[in-house]
Amino acid sequence: MLNETYREMLQNKNVIRELSEFAYRRGAEIGYENVFDFSLGNPSLEAPASFTEKMIHLLQTKDTMTLHGYTPTLGNARFKEAVAESLNRRYGMHYKAEHIFPTTGAAGAVAHSVRAISKPGDEIIVIAPYFSEYTPYIEGAGCVKKVIPADTEAFQINFGELERAFTEKTSAVLINTPNNPSGVIYTPETLMTLATMLREQSERFGHTVYLITDEPYRDIVFSGFESPYVSEFYPHTLSCYSFAKSMSIPGERLGYVAVHPDCEGADVIVPMCGQISRGLGHNCPPSIIMQAVAEVIDDVSDLPVYETNMNIINETLQELGISCVKPGDTFYIFPKAPEEDAVAFCKKATEYDLVLVPSDGFGVKGFFRMAYCVDTEKMKRAMPRLKQFITEAYR
Ligand SMILES: Cc1ncc(COP(=O)(O)O)c(C=O)c1O
Repeated sequence: MLNETYREMLQNKNVIRELSEFAYRRGAEIGYENVFDFSLGNPSLEAPASFTEKMIHLLQTKDTMTLHGYTPTLGNARFKEAVAESLNRRYGMHYKAEHIFPTTGAAGAVAHSVRAISKPGDEIIVIAPYFSEYTPYIEGAGCVKKVIPADTEAFQINFGELERAFTEKTSAVLINTPNNPSGVIYTPETLMTLATMLREQSERFGHTVYLITDEPYRDIVFSGFESPYVSEFYPHTLSCYSFAKSMSIPGERLGYVAVHPDCEGADVIVPMCGQISRGLGHNCPPSIIMQAVAEVIDDVSDLPVYETNMNIINETLQELGISCVKPGDTFYIFPKAPEEDAVAFCKKATEYDLVLVPSDGFGVKGFFRMAYCVDTEKMKRAMPRLKQFITEAYR
């Protein structure tokens, strides 16, 4: 018998992927250079040269078992050490290699984290706007997703709503900072208030309420902004990272969970993740990628390009009188749609070959997301089209 849960999910396909499929179809008709596709967070930059060189060097010098053999269940030892050393150096933490679990990107990291600290029936709280894939990660673990409505003024956390959402079934709060889609970083004040609330709620219910922090954009931060390291604020934190965005290697599928050394269960969570992988049938990222990244752990792509792109869009939006919180990071911007129905707005945009993503899938209504990990030259060509669309359709 077919599994009805997954069959039903087919009706509810990822809107972003559908839009991006539209872009490819349209691109085949009129040339992809003429489709202004802002739908996918697929990095447009080159991977760091040091990463490419390291890969070539490994392929030319190492034997086949080292390159292509199975890795230990809990990951390549050198990679785990390199991650721990880097986090300790950069954020004054005290991780050891044993606190690091390599995963297939941030997706794998969040999916493992949710399972590690919950049992079926538990509640996981997410803050809108949130990454739509949290739903399958949470529901796939048999848990219930509870959404806190967005603070649409500043895209920080609506603490009044959050406080009311806790119950004895809450096992974790899952946050994403720097945030996709808002491009906003949670401030140290927000993180301190959150940590205080998590301590209070843990005490109230007599069990630890964990914090899962999804941070694939931690290293894409614009001038004048800083991205606080979330784990510094609360010990019961599982930090999820990906090299997809900072090194522009999303297809290589490498990320990790870093379990705070003072977290409850810090000694068993990483080994438990190894067992969770067995259940998911999805073990360890590729060996060669772990080896290469371990040697260039702090290197990144030419990330300031994203700030240039953001400024180009932000200026255009200002000219058009479209309100939006100016992003401090990531490669997303999240303006208010000029009509209430963001889906209708994005549909109209496709008539101008502009591919924009409605906010509904992120748990907020009336906004749209633009992923500006696109060539700057194409960005510049897209702006007159955006102006034409807004002027003709809304003025
Ligand atoms: C907020 C957020 N979390 C997780 C992911 C998944 O990242 P990865 O490709 O590293 O699995 C993404 C990807 O876009 C994301 O934006």
